[in-house]
Amino acid sequence: MDRKLSRPFILFGGDYNPDQWDDETIDQDIEVFKKTKINTVTLPVFSWAKLEPSEGIYNFEWLDHILDKLDEAGLSYFLATPTSAQPAWLSRKYPEVLPVDIAGRKRTHGMRVFFCVNSDKFRERAAIIAGKMAERYKDRPGLIGWHVANEYGTYCYCENCQKKFRSWLKERYKTLDELNLRWHTCFWGKTLYDFEEVVVPTELNDDYRFNPAVQLDYMRFITDSTIECYENEAKILKAATPTLPVFTNISGYIKKLDQSKMVSHMDTAGWDNYPWPTDERSFPAMKHDIMRALKGGESYYVMEQSPNQQNWQPYNKLKKPGEVRRLAYQGLAHGSDSSLYFQMRQSVAGQEKFHGAVISHSGRTDTRIIREFTELGGELEKLGDQFICGKADSRIGIVFDWNNWWALELCSGPSKDMDYLREVHRYYKHFYYNNYSVDFLIQDVDYSKYKVIVAPMLYMMKEGIAEKLREFTRNGGILIGTYMTGYADENDRCIYGAYPGPLKDVFGIWVEETDALYQDEYNQIHEIDDDSCSYKCSFLCDLIHTESANTLAVYERDFYAGLPAVTVNSFGNGKAYYIATAPDYEYLDKLINRILVDEKVEPVMKSSGEIEIVKRIKDGDEYIFAINHGNERGIIYIGDNHYKNLLTEDQVTGTIDISAGDVMVMKKGIDK
Ligand code: GLA
Ligand code: ZN
Repeated sequence: MDRKLSRPFILFGGDYNPDQWDDETIDQDIEVFKKTKINTVTLPVFSWAKLEPSEGIYNFEWLDHILDKLDEAGLSYFLATPTSAQPAWLSRKYPEVLPVDIAGRKRTHGMRVFFCVNSDKFRERAAIIAGKMAERYKDRPGLIGWHVANEYGTYCYCENCQKKFRSWLKERYKTLDELNLRWHTCFWGKTLYDFEEVVVPTELNDDYRFNPAVQLDYMRFITDSTIECYENEAKILKAATPTLPVFTNISGYIKKLDQSKMVSHMDTAGWDNYPWPTDERSFPAMKHDIMRALKGGESYYVMEQSPNQQNWQPYNKLKKPGEVRRLAYQGLAHGSDSSLYFQMRQSVAGQEKFHGAVISHSGRTDTRIIREFTELGGELEKLGDQFICGKADSRIGIVFDWNNWWALELCSGPSKDMDYLREVHRYYKHFYYNNYSVDFLIQDVDYSKYKVIVAPMLYMMKEGIAEKLREFTRNGGILIGTYMTGYADENDRCIYGAYPGPLKDVFGIWVEETDALYQDEYNQIHEIDDDSCSYKCSFLCDLIHTESANTLAVYERDFYAGLPAVTVNSFGNGKAYYIATAPDYEYLDKLINRILVDEKVEPVMKSSGEIEIVKRIKDGDEYIFAINHGNERGIIYIGDNHYKNLLTEDQVTGTIDISAGDVMVMKKGIDK
């Protein structure tokens, strides 16, 4: 798809559910859109029941009428197929569309995103409604793309899924012998003599824990089934409007489906960003960077954020003044071409009646949120299309993989606290807080442009990954690996011959045992040339032997006191660091900074205070985003270069202040 076909502005607006309102309210909404410079809405996400009140009877007139109004107002819109909420008649007439949950319970109608992705009847009816929409609306002037369904991610364990799972396995493994081998069914007497004996991994079948190899394949199978379900609609939309992007919005809980595989079937990535108030600011930044990687570094869309509080958290904090703006720019900085929100007007009732919206129940426009949106909308309009489609330019990569994530967290042992995202973030945040740009290395990307690659807990050695990391290091790269690396193959079968498996010689060590620490327990490490300074470490402690590696730090406590905790190995022209435990922030910061200085990897810019600094490059032009997340003024060290602050038109150079909570978008060069 040619991304240049996108509108020449940052998409600003979001989910609009006007099927809840009368005409007068819709007119008021449109006035608010004009005032706030909202230029894009997404609709009708959940309106299947209204569009098809009974099987084969359609009612599109109300939507035509709303689209007429949007077109008249010059608004852009993503049209969503309404298929994530099937009508009650569909569930009633064809109960096969309702999912069976992991406990084996057939669920009743009532939720949204609550259907069996493998139901033929669901797919048949979904394709028909998608086709009707495509035919009817393909030439609408405001249409900028298609948003298929909403936040896929339902796991179903029905008989039909079981049947399809068996076929999927037959296709993947061909013979039962192969399946038995890959699943190691001889353990606990689970040998299969017929594909019909395969059962889906529900809790009802749980004898202690279901075989993780089966669960892993089920997660792959549900991802593939969801892709088929998506494509069932997407191909119809694509045929009707070949130049428009077709995609879906990824839920912020990104683990459920292999998003890299999902997005490889889409024109672009889009996701819903709902950070928790307790999240460190580096956490949503990391998810943005993961999203940017899904299409190999191309820009993506933030499809939803909250204009204010959530309703589904235990305590729903208001967004602080300026927070919406900072989160919007955080997305734009990391590679988004949009800042879209759920939802435009607060629902009068229903499950999300207390979820924040641009227009609240008061209906008034003299609110804090509308004031903030108006200011933000004005700024985004002013920025135009300057950095749209702009890319990052990173020398640091972090290996990230969904299958690895699933397999790690399916493990029984060594610790129940296995949390891949937390461990990836443990490393990511050192780069983030020091203003280094990071690319996530998800698909089969070329590693040669990177100087430093971190592969946190790379438990699963997928085909080719060990060779790629070996080549990267041999050619002069710096590899950083951790505990839980090099354990298993793609079927979660452990690799004999000591961990980290095929990377043993790259790291120059081998792991004999791994100790798990309680949540409130810690060990300590110190560097071997400085025992005056100890650092806490937690989570896991590998007991390793060095072969060719040098020891940098050792444990201080327990029976393994004195054993290596951090090592470095020269390998070819590069080096491989092995971090055998989870050291505290201070130690990792020291180690990583030392590595980056040695390797002459430069931050985007230096700053002091709680400033986030990110770069996007478009057509050779450099845009720097500076976001002050703190309550104090911060300082940015620009040096001799000259930039123009696009929000204020000021020229900046040298050492400059950024006030508390403020944002700057700077373009490099002297403005003539
Ligand atoms: C999700 C959904 C929206 C809405 C928001 C807010 O991301 O896609 O429909 O429910 O959450 O909770
Ligand atoms: Zn099913």
